[in-house]
This record gives sequence, C-alpha cells and structure tokens, in this order.
Amino acid sequence: LHPQWNWNRGGLVMTRHFLRDDDISPAEQAEILALAAEVKADRFGRRPLEGPETVAVIFDKSSTRTRVSFAVGIADMGGTPLIISTASSQLGGKETPADTARVLERMVAAIVWRTYGQDGLEEMAKDTTVPVINALSDDFHPCQLLADLFTIQEKRGDLAGTVVCFSGDGGSNMAQSYLLACATAGMHIRIACPEEFSPRPDVVADADAIAASTGGSVTVGTNPDELVSGAHVVVTDTWVSMGKEAEKVERVKTFTPYQVNQALMAKADPEAMFLHCLPADRGFEVDQAVIDGPQSAIWDESENRLHAQKALMLWLLQRA
Ligand code: CP
Ligand code: NVA
Repeated sequence: LHPQWNWNRGGLVMTRHFLRDDDISPAEQAEILALAAEVKADRFGRRPLEGPETVAVIFDKSSTRTRVSFAVGIADMGGTPLIISTASSQLGGKETPADTARVLERMVAAIVWRTYGQDGLEEMAKDTTVPVINALSDDFHPCQLLADLFTIQEKRGDLAGTVVCFSGDGGSNMAQSYLLACATAGMHIRIACPEEFSPRPDVVADADAIAASTGGSVTVGTNPDELVSGAHVVVTDTWVSMGKEAEKVERVKTFTPYQVNQALMAKADPEAMFLHCLPADRGFEVDQAVIDGPQSAIWDESENRLHAQKALMLWLLQRA
C-alpha cells in the first residue's frame, strides 16, 4: 500500500500502515527496533496517546500475547485500548472492512486487527486516515517479527549476517514473515519445510529482491539437517495454525521430520538461540528439552512483543 497524505491529528500527515513486514524499509525497521530498546529501558517515558486517545484492537481469532501486549502497551503510552471481538461486532460478514474503517477512523488513533485474509486488512487500510496494523493474518505476523528481531538483536548485537533457520510449516504466517523481515534486516533466512508446505512463490521472490539490496539471503529447502547447519537462531511454530485444525492428523505426520529437538539443535551453532512465537505444542514442533532448555529465549521473546509494538505505534503515530 502506498503511503497516503491525510488530514489528521491537526495537520496534513502521511498515514502509514503495517500489514506486511516489507511495508517498512531496512532503515525504518532499524529505527523501530532502536525505539523498542528505548521504550524497554524507560517504559512510561513516551506518551503519544496522551488524552487519552483510543486504539481499536480487533480479534477474529484467539489471542493471549497479542491482546495483552497491545492493551498494556497502549495504556503505557497514555491511551485507552478498545478490545473488540469480531463475533460481537458488525464486522465479519455484516459490515465491510472499508465501512468499518470509515467509522473507526473518526474516533480512534489506530486500528489493530487480527484476521484471516490479507485482503481484508488491505481493504481496512485503503484510504484510511489512521494507521492499520496487522496483528496476524493467515499470511503474515509482522508484529511478532519485530519482537523476534528485537530479541535476536538484544542477544547478538547486529542483525545483519545472522543465520536463521525456520523448520516447520513454510507456508505459515510466521515462516512468510520470517522471510520478509529477515531479508529486510540483511539476515540469512533458511526455511526447511515439506515441499507441499512451501512459502508462496511471490513472498519468496519479494524476500529475494529485498535480500539482494541488504546483503541478506533466502534459502528454501526440504532438509532441516542441512539447513540448520551453523544457524545462530533456530525457530519453529505450531504445525496447526488457527484455521487449519481439520488438517491436524495429516499435518502431524508430514511435519514430524521437521521437529526441533536436541539432535537438530546440535547441528546449529553451539551458541544458537531457540525462538517460538507461542503458543507451543510441546512434543510436536519442538521437544520439551529444547523449548524449556538453556538455549530457549521464548519468555524474553514474548515480553518483547510489548516493547516492539509500542515502538511500532510510536513510530506510526509520530508520523500521524
Ligand atoms: N504469538 C502470538 O501472537 O500469540 P497470541 O496468539 O497469544 O497472541
Ligand atoms: N501460526 C500460528 C501463530 C499463532 C500466534 C497461527 O496462525 O495460529
């Protein structure tokens, strides 16, 4: 989506949205991650929502971390979170995302939405005067990636040159966001997945094009043992994303060779960090010894949702 000039917050401003990881440039991603470090060090220091202004946070799907981190982050910055469940609103069949946006933009400072199709988010953002943030769609989970990159940066320093291996569902929102966000950061992203669960070719092509300009690289293959070799970060996610529950039995069979266990971790860099966006199915995509072991950084990763999303909202609202 192209940035739009809009009359808002007392002036002519450029409204930006965050629907995919590549809606921000490499420099902008670095700026947001630096802001995350700033707000983590001084939790109540920045109050762009003083008023209080309201931010609408809408859920078509379940959530623990996203709901709590947005609600707490909005309150930390002086605002009021308005958590809306789609089932109890007119959205979701009864009213279009476009009409919903026309109503909300008159009252709220930003719209955060967890939904199914990316097309709904695009419709919500089109011509909308306030920032729209993707809080997870079937295709991408860009807020999670800000938190994951921030966690890697905290522990390793520079992101550029870091080798990341994602083993599991290559067509999932997490894998596709890993492709775009890591390429933007100049990282080397390797996706190990069964061929029939590969990332969408257009997403791989977009990541490749970004990596060509940042010094990163993109590899997609079917062999986790090879792709994890020397990785600094090993990541996985559930084999059964929200909306795929009916395919569980088949998926478990297909994905079993992609489990992150101690044998796989032993092939990564000896200092490798394990990440998982959570919720996790211990014994499926990851074994307990890894997720609850010394290399796991999942609790910092989860806390960092708060700081990364505050940084994102701060960055979007300062422009608004
Ligand atoms: N990682 C994540 O988005 O968690 P929730 O589904 O609990 O929000
Ligand atoms: N891929 C998972 C992420 C949950 C936070 C899902 O979409 O269900």
